Amino acid sequence: MTHFPYVGGELHVEQVPVRRIADAVGTPFYCYSSATLADNYQAYVKTLGALGVGIYYSLKANSNQAVIRTLGQLGAGADVVSVGEMHRALKAGVPADKIVFAGVGKTELEMEAALEAGIYQFNVESFGELETLSDVAARMGVKAPVTLRINPDVDAKTHAKISTGKSENKFGIDIEQAAQFYSAAARMKGIRIVGLAVHIGSQLTDIAPYRAAFLKIAELAQTLRKAGLTVERIDLGGGVGIAYRDEATIDLQDYAALVKEIISPLGTKIEIEPGRSIVGNAGLLVSRVINVKAGVSRKFVIVDAAMNDLIRPSLYDAYHGIIPVAEPASDAPVERCDVVGPICETGDRFAEQRPLPPVKPGDLVAFATAGAYGSVMSSTYNTRLPAAEVLVRGDRFDVVRPRPSYDHIIGLDKIPDWLA
Ligand code: LLP
Repeated sequence: MTHFPYVGGELHVEQVPVRRIADAVGTPFYCYSSATLADNYQAYVKTLGALGVGIYYSLKANSNQAVIRTLGQLGAGADVVSVGEMHRALKAGVPADKIVFAGVGKTELEMEAALEAGIYQFNVESFGELETLSDVAARMGVKAPVTLRINPDVDAKTHAKISTGKSENKFGIDIEQAAQFYSAAARMKGIRIVGLAVHIGSQLTDIAPYRAAFLKIAELAQTLRKAGLTVERIDLGGGVGIAYRDEATIDLQDYAALVKEIISPLGTKIEIEPGRSIVGNAGLLVSRVINVKAGVSRKFVIVDAAMNDLIRPSLYDAYHGIIPVAEPASDAPVERCDVVGPICETGDRFAEQRPLPPVKPGDLVAFATAGAYGSVMSSTYNTRLPAAEVLVRGDRFDVVRPRPSYDHIIGLDKIPDWLA
C-alpha cells in the first residue's frame, strides 16, 4: 500500500498534504513516512526475523535521529560505520549491545570508543585492523567480539561505485586468506572471534550473486569448523535492492528462502544490515520550480533543490521519479524536460529528457524514493542551506531537522588572527 497517495488532486504523505508542509517549512525539504518505514521494517521481520535473523538497520542510508528512533522502537539494531554513527544510534536509543560496527578504516580512537560503549560486534576487514583492535582491546582489558568480513570475489552486478565484493574492491579479506587470519584471530589476546561477515554491494536486483556469495561463506564456515575453530555468527551485509522506476528486484521471500537453504543449516546466529530497502521508498525530496527555460533544443525545468541535496543522479546516474504535487489531469500533455538545480555545474541535473506534464514557476514537485542516501550525502556546496527534514505519522508532521541559517553555516568558518 502506498503512503503517498493523491487525495483531492494533491499529493499526500500519509494523511498530510505535501503542500501544507511546504507552506510551513519552505522548500526544498525531505519528507519521510513513518508508516512506510514500519512496513518496510516489518517485511524484514516477517520474512527473516522468522528465521531468527537479527536486523541491524544500516544508518548510513539515513541517520536522522527520528528515523533511527522510529526503527529502534520497532526493535531494530544498528549497523554503523563510524563512531559518529555509533553516537547517533546510542542517542536515538539503540542499546550498545545491538550495534554492529563495520567499515574498512576504523581508527584507534573509534575502536576505543566502541569498546568503551560495549557494542555487539566489530566487522573487521584486514589483518592490520585485527592486530590494532586486539592491541587496543588488550590495553583496555577487554576482548573485542569480531567477525571477519570476507571478500568472496563475486560480482554483485550493481553500479560499479557501490559494488564491493570483487577482489579488486577495497573491502573485506580475500577469501583465500580468510582461514589463516581467522585462526590467527582466535589466538589474539584482545579478540574474541565470533564469525564471518560478507557484503557484496548495494542495490542488488539479481539474487544469483547472493547465492554465489552465501555458498562461499557457508563453505568457509565449514572449513573453519573442521579446523576446530568456532563460528557462531554470520553477518550477511546490506539488504535487497529496491525499485526506483518499475524495475524488477529481489523478492524478500526469495532472499529469505536462500538464507534458509544455505546459511540456516550452519546453526549460527544470522545478521543482516539493510538500509536502502527500509528508508528508500519512505522518503521524498520536495522542491519548488524556480523557472522554466525553453531553449532552442531543450526545455529546462529549474528547481530549488540541487545536487548538494540529492547527489545520486549526478554521482551514479541514478533515476528518481518526479511527481508533481498537484495531480496532473489524466489527459495532460507530456513534454520531455531536463530537470536541473541551480548549482553551477552541468552535472547538477536530476533528470534528462524526462517526460513531464506541464509545470510552471512556483509549482511543487517531489523526487521519489529519496529516503536513502539522500540527506545523508548532502553538502553545503555553493553555500546552499541543507534541506530541512520532516517526519509524518498519520495526520501529524514535525520538522526532524530544521534548515540551518546562513549565520550558522558561514559562522563555522574562522578567520585567523593574522588576517584580522
Ligand atoms: N552493510 C555494509 C557493509 C555496507 O557497505 C552497506 C552499504 C550496507 C550494509 C547497506 O546496504 P543497503 O541495504 O543500503 O543496500 N550511496 C550509494 C549506496 C552506498 C552503499 C554503501 N554500503 C547510493 O546512493 O546508491
